[in-house]
Amino acid sequence: MKTVHELLTEARAALPHRPSPSEAVRAQRTGALLIDLRSDDQRRHDGLIPGALVIPRNSLEWRCDPGSAWRHPSIHDYDQQLVLICDQGFQSSLAAANLQQLGLRRATDMDGGFVAYRAEGLPVASSHAPLRGKRSNAAARHWDAIYETRAPEQVSWYQARPETSLELVDALAVPHDAAVIDVGGGASLLAESLLQRGFSDVSVLDVSERALRHLTDRHGSADRRLHVIRHDLLSWTPQRRYDLWHDRAVLHFFQDPVERSRYVEVLEAALAPSATAIIGVFALDGPHQCSGLPVMRYGARQLAELLGDGFRLVDERREEHRTPGGALQPFIWAAFTRRNQNILPA
Ligand SMILES: C[S@@+](CC[C@H](N)C(=O)[O-])C[C@H]1O[C@@H](n2cnc3c(N)ncnc32)[C@H](O)[C@@H]1O
Repeated sequence: MKTVHELLTEARAALPHRPSPSEAVRAQRTGALLIDLRSDDQRRHDGLIPGALVIPRNSLEWRCDPGSAWRHPSIHDYDQQLVLICDQGFQSSLAAANLQQLGLRRATDMDGGFVAYRAEGLPVASSHAPLRGKRSNAAARHWDAIYETRAPEQVSWYQARPETSLELVDALAVPHDAAVIDVGGGASLLAESLLQRGFSDVSVLDVSERALRHLTDRHGSADRRLHVIRHDLLSWTPQRRYDLWHDRAVLHFFQDPVERSRYVEVLEAALAPSATAIIGVFALDGPHQCSGLPVMRYGARQLAELLGDGFRLVDERREEHRTPGGALQPFIWAAFTRRNQNILPA
């Protein structure tokens, strides 16, 4: 017979490094699966870890054994790095030791559990899905009102030609058969410019129906090469994978760390292995606001940190955008390629 202390010591001796919460979040960016074992009540009360799978403790072994008929769809081999999370990091050690016995040699648990995660100030998402719905509606109302009252050529971000975006597409030699998505593309001329250049699969996602109507009124809706998606980017679940992600002046509106981490989750879910992301945002010396909303300003380094180790910075440029009203707005542009490692199947 053993004491519970001996049981725990023995379990931990069998585990590889037990990451701290911030180490676990970094590992998640390069493919580790975080698995939240906390109870429904704990998650409802304390919130969620963005991107973590929720698997109840009582079905853990069945859901994580790659050879089990009940395995979770995200579990596919014995070499995956799995980081179990409970409330304080005790029960999760015992559970991880069980997974070790199943041959999951990289199964471990997060040191200190959710309590330590929250104490480090890492992002916690609300477990109340309706809040996200409310947020989406508010965003749609805000942007619809703008596109309702101003012509596309009058908004401060208007460009007669999306110069820097096209230069980057050329510099990165994106092939014409690449599946492209312009997130928060609104009424921008980028999609049509790409189609004119011979691209054959261009999607534009935007939360504003009014913005997208400007695009389809201009271009028509019969072109099967153009796909229009009306959705809040942060609550969107991509139904396919894309080779090129383009974002001009959207990410900088996401002020909350939970929103930024959700942005990266969506980007990761949307992008194919070896895909490219082009992101243009207000530079560190750029404006503090756009369309009446506060924005977050970036340098290429901050963008690279946000995207994490799964992406390699391959190009970086600065642009002085002149608004239709004549003001100058410094933008920073960064292009990333996805490192082709540890990518989970779609
Ligand atoms: C500053 S405009 C930039 C538009 C376009 N990218 C361009 O360069 O012309 C920001 C765009 O992001 C869209 N947007 C803002 N928040 C969004 C969200 N959460 N999901 C999807 N689109 C969003 C707005 O409707 C708007 O079209």
